[in-house]
Amino acid sequence: MLLPAHRGRRIRGKELFRRMVRETALSVNDLIYPMFSAFGTGIKKEVTSMPGIYQQSIEHIVAEAKEVQGLGIPAVILFGIPETKDAVGSDAYAEHGIIQETIRAIKREVPALAVITDVCLCEYTDHGHCGIIRDGDVDNDATVELLAQEALSHAQAGADMVAPSDMMDGRVGAIRDILDNNGFAHIPVMSYAVKYASGYYGPFREAAESTPQFGDRRSYQMDPANRLEALREAQADIEEGADIIMVKPGLPYLDILRDLRNEFALPLAVYNVSGEYSMIKAAAANDWIDEERVVMETMLGFKRAGADLIITYHAKDVARWLTR
Ligand code: PBG
Ligand code: ZN
Repeated sequence: MLLPAHRGRRIRGKELFRRMVRETALSVNDLIYPMFSAFGTGIKKEVTSMPGIYQQSIEHIVAEAKEVQGLGIPAVILFGIPETKDAVGSDAYAEHGIIQETIRAIKREVPALAVITDVCLCEYTDHGHCGIIRDGDVDNDATVELLAQEALSHAQAGADMVAPSDMMDGRVGAIRDILDNNGFAHIPVMSYAVKYASGYYGPFREAAESTPQFGDRRSYQMDPANRLEALREAQADIEEGADIIMVKPGLPYLDILRDLRNEFALPLAVYNVSGEYSMIKAAAANDWIDEERVVMETMLGFKRAGADLIITYHAKDVARWLTR
């Protein structure tokens, strides 16, 4: 009888061997935790579709930021829910806007935590689009000017990094330019370089109260069918000065993550978005899956596909599971 020369099971037979030949590792240093800051005081409201995730006023955000830092997670990414919204998203670039005040509070109380800010207008416009509207569509160049103002105001409030998520053309260059010209040449830009028009953002829009009031985001976010376009988008952002590039959503776009890893030498981030979180939480709540096992497998999948950084609502749980 011919015996197999290759027996893959030999090296899988003992946990010690499995540890020795393991190719991918996940670390707490890879994690970024998203938080939703709401105007007011005494607010801590759980997002219905995202168990464990809250809209919170600043004092609660600060308390959670301390917890996050204590778990060894290096950074948070902030989203704001302003007191009032208008057609041009004024609160987004106001000196005392919701995010600007949140940044100041976190940097004052938890200086050892890196504060990254999401730069976009959809949380601040009354129509819910990511820019200002002209003739029924988002006006690219006028929006880019406001996004640059927004990024600058975040840096002035003390943000450590800015992350434009709007998908306007030329915004990374405009943000780089305004930061450089105002004494913030050292502030990195993490670009949502490859962001698809996705149904997986549904729960986030409840959390950030940013659902478009008409139409959808397909004239600026990418078509889920496209792969080469992702390379063009990433290339453009890198040429404009992006320091970190991101793919979003995560799980349905692991091929894109791998494409970018193979093509570019920049640090690569992935956004494990709200809908991906909600699906795992819902299945786990029904005891249909083992939450810890599935979450850790998902995180490892991102790393194996090429991600350096993972923005995830699971970050606190992952940090705890990693140190157990
Ligand atoms: C704002 C923004 C969105 C997300 C991050 N930044 C929503 C959107 O584009 O509709 C989604 C994050 C998530 O679903 O967890 N442009
Ligand atoms: Zn937006």
